[in-house]
Amino acid sequence: MTNGRVLHLFVCGAGPAKRVHDLIGLAHDDGWDVYCAATGSAVEHFIDVESLARLTGHPVRTTYRSAGTASTPQADAVIVAPATYNTINKWAAGIADNYVLTQLAELTGLGVRVVVLPFVNQALARNLSFIRSVAALREAGVRVLFGPGEFEPHAPRTGDAALERYPWALALKSTHD
Ligand SMILES: Cc1cc2nc3c(=O)[nH]c(=O)nc-3n(C[C@H](O)[C@H](O)[C@H](O)COP(=O)(O)O)c2cc1C
Repeated sequence: MTNGRVLHLFVCGAGPAKRVHDLIGLAHDDGWDVYCAATGSAVEHFIDVESLARLTGHPVRTTYRSAGTASTPQADAVIVAPATYNTINKWAAGIADNYVLTQLAELTGLGVRVVVLPFVNQALARNLSFIRSVAALREAGVRVLFGPGEFEPHAPRTGDAALERYPWALALKSTHD
């Protein structure tokens, strides 16, 4: 049962995307109506678009809607999870060359709470571009759950173990805290 609040969930191409139904379940329990959009990499390697559509009751958007199809209602909050190194860097750099990045570019300026839960290993996380991108998104008002006390990057080649501690509930809680 929803309470009318709309959550836009953007899914990128990293391991936790296989388990994104966990977040959708928590969000439904919390009364959110969830609308998913996914990057090409998420669709190609990680998610089952049909089963997410059945779970949410809405199509998973990967591109712009064509004329005559229903529009997605305005977001009360946004979660980007998992957020990849690629999407974070492109978003922070102002690149909008796919549907997810275009939506994020628009939402950043709208004053909607945007929560980002990256899933990158320590090697990627040490990259200066990534450090700068996280700082730039935070400066723009985006809530990036990354670093001590939030979600720490994992050592390279330990991604499967890190999946177990990926904090879906923290992402949801951060939409209102
Ligand atoms: C099996 C697999 C695992 C991956 N794991 C990660 C990851 O944990 N973090 C990450 O940032 N990218 C990861 N990638 C790479 C991204 O999918 C790749 O950079 C892609 O271009 C991201 O596209 P997107 O940001 O549009 O989703 C992985 C790719 C594959 C195929």
